[in-house]
Parts: sequence; structure tokens; C-alpha cells
Amino acid sequence: MKPTVLVTGGAGYIGSHAVLSLKQQGYQVVILDNLSGGHKDLVETVLDVEFVVGDTSDRPLLDKLFQTYKIDAVMHFAAYIAVGESVEQPGKYYDNNVGGTLTLLEAMVAAGVKKLVFSSTCAIYGPPDEVPIPENHPKRPISPYARSKWMVEQILEDFDRAYGLKSVRFRYFNAAGADPEGRLGEDHYPETHLIPLIIQAALGHRDSIYIFGTDYDTPDGTCIRDYIHILDIAQAHILGLEYLMQGGDSDAFNLGNGQGFSVREVIELAKTVTAQEIEVIEKPRRAGDPPTLVGTGDRAKQVLGWKPEYADLEQILAHAWAWHQKRHGRKNADATPAALASSAS
Ligand SMILES: NC(=O)c1ccc[n+]([C@@H]2O[C@H](COP(=O)([O-])OP(=O)(O)OC[C@H]3O[C@@H](n4cnc5c(N)ncnc54)[C@H](O)[C@@H]3O)[C@@H](O)[C@H]2O)c1
Repeated sequence: MKPTVLVTGGAGYIGSHAVLSLKQQGYQVVILDNLSGGHKDLVETVLDVEFVVGDTSDRPLLDKLFQTYKIDAVMHFAAYIAVGESVEQPGKYYDNNVGGTLTLLEAMVAAGVKKLVFSSTCAIYGPPDEVPIPENHPKRPISPYARSKWMVEQILEDFDRAYGLKSVRFRYFNAAGADPEGRLGEDHYPETHLIPLIIQAALGHRDSIYIFGTDYDTPDGTCIRDYIHILDIAQAHILGLEYLMQGGDSDAFNLGNGQGFSVREVIELAKTVTAQEIEVIEKPRRAGDPPTLVGTGDRAKQVLGWKPEYADLEQILAHAWAWHQKRHGRKNADATPAALASSAS
């Protein structure tokens, strides 16, 4: 029988797609999510798996959960994810992303569960010295959010040394797209990611989109990012889980497509995909946005046998567009302009 997997943050964007993929591939799944950012309706109507509403910092709840369900491994997506908010409220981020994870890890060790797949981020590298960024690039995170993820990666190394808890850490570039069948997709509030913000503008939920910085040393002056389809991330998680179940050692892998797109290129392609005009307002650079963030998934391909299926940005945008139309529909443009353009979370 396939393993039983506890998925923290399974009601959120990436976690819910991972749960769907796990379920489709015959795994037993238990979701733990405090619904601070997740969607109960999607868990109930689409995922239909065991769902525990609760927090990763609740040790008694975790102990009970590990006793009740025979958990073999954990996929840990639960975290706060807004880079800007983490600068304004660092304690909130360290408390949840580091403190909550520590409680989870202690409960895992106590329950004898020693396999974990962890959501890390390319933001742990900070402004890169080279592109594509290799996994052994120096780690110089510049926001409390990114530092919280790098701290957890280091804690995981200590837990391996002390207790033999094995982990696969995935450092995603920009997660994007949606379930191709339109059952799940990205629905953050507040939204800070470029593609959903562009689509909100296309649907009239915002009247325009800001580009922060048009004078970067890039071909069109705007920041370049690497977009990776949510289902390719989900599948990497399953391969990471299988690798650990087969006795694989702890490791960290970038998840990117190795191809960068500028903010202007993404907006132009989105205009084609949505067949909508999108008003763009150019703003000065924001502090802390590196000009280019691109990484390959080469190590994940070599070690885990990962094969991204949806690397085409047009397809990523088409899946996101279909999801957003279904979830939110069209609205009169009366909202404030989109507040982002390019940062990685
Ligand atoms: N979205 C991206 O582009 C991206 C990029 C790199 C890394 N990540 C990481 O991937 C993970 C998932 O991101 P996402 O975009 O799906 O975010 P999300 O906000 O959609 O999902 C996170 C989920 O975790 C839940 N949660 C938060 N704190 C919790 C806690 N203490 N206990 C239980 N549940 C809790 C939220 O309710 C939410 O459902 C995060 O760890 C994030 O840092 C995301």
C-alpha cells in the first residue's frame, strides 16, 4: 500500500495541487491547515480527504494526529508567504514559519516519522552572483520571509544529524498556473504574485497593473523571473517523497524551468491569452528586487527523475486564466492598481 502523507498547508495554493496529485496517484492524505490562507470549500468539494483544521504550532493536536493516522511522511507547505508583510511584521513570520515548523519537527521525531518534503524558495539565495542559480550558490536572503525558509533548511540539517530525520527541500522559483481541469488554482488574499495580478486586471478586479522598475540591466529594462507550473511542482514533491521512502539522503533541489521572462513579456503574453487590454503603470524600482532570478531543475531531473510537463509560459497563463474566470468571474474595474510586479516568494 502507498504511504499515508500528512500535508500541512494542504488547503493552500501549492499544497492543494500536491494533495490532488497524491490522491490521483493512490496515496492516503491527511491535511492539516489553519485556514489562515487556505480554502475550506476547495478541500471539501475537490479534494475530499481527511481534513484537520489546526495549527502546526499546536503540539497536543500534532501528537494526537500522528497517533490517530498512521503517518509515514510529511509534506510541509504551511507558512506565511508575503515578502513585504514579513518586512513589516518579522515576528509573525519567524513565529509561524520557523516556530511552527520546529513544533512540527519535534512532534515528528516523537512519533518516529522521519521523512519530510519541505517548501523552500529561491529567495534564500538573495541577489544572485550567477544565473541560472545553482543549489550551492551562497545563501544571502534579504527578507525575513526568505530568512525564515533558510533557517528551516538549516534546522532540517540539524534534525538529520541528531535524529536521522531525512528531508527533501525544494527551492521553487515562481509557482504559477492552475490545475488544467480548472478544479484548483491560485487564490491568495491579498494577492502579491504577478500572474494572478495581471489576470485580476484582465477580469476588471483591478483597473491597472504596476511595473516596478523599467531601468534594470535586462533586455527590456524589467525584472526577469522563472515561472514553474504548479503541477510540475506537485509532481516533484511526489518524486521527492518516493526518493525518501526508498532511503534517499537529505538533499535540496531548485525547481525552475531555466528560462526567464521579463515582467513586460509576461504582461504581453497575458494580453494575448486573455484577449484583454491591460493598463500598465510604470513605477520606480522597489528595494530588494534582483534583476534576474532563473534556476534550472537539472539536479531534480538527475537525482529524482523529475520531468516538467508544463514548461510553456503560454500554457501556464492559459490554465491560470481559465481558473480565475471560473473562480471569480468578471467585474467592473473599480479597484486599486496591482501592488507588485516581480518579487519571488
Ligand atoms: N507561491 C510561490 O510562488 C512560492 C514560491 C516559493 C515557495 N513557496 C512556499 O510554498 C508554500 C505554499 O505556498 P502557497 O503559495 O501555496 O501559499 P498559501 O498561502 O496558498 O498556502 C499556505 C497554506 O498554509 C496554511 N498555513 C499557514 N500557516 C499555518 C500553520 N501555522 N498551521 C497550519 N496551516 C498553516 C494556510 O492556511 C494556507 O492554506 C509556502 O511554504 C511558501 O513559502 C511558495
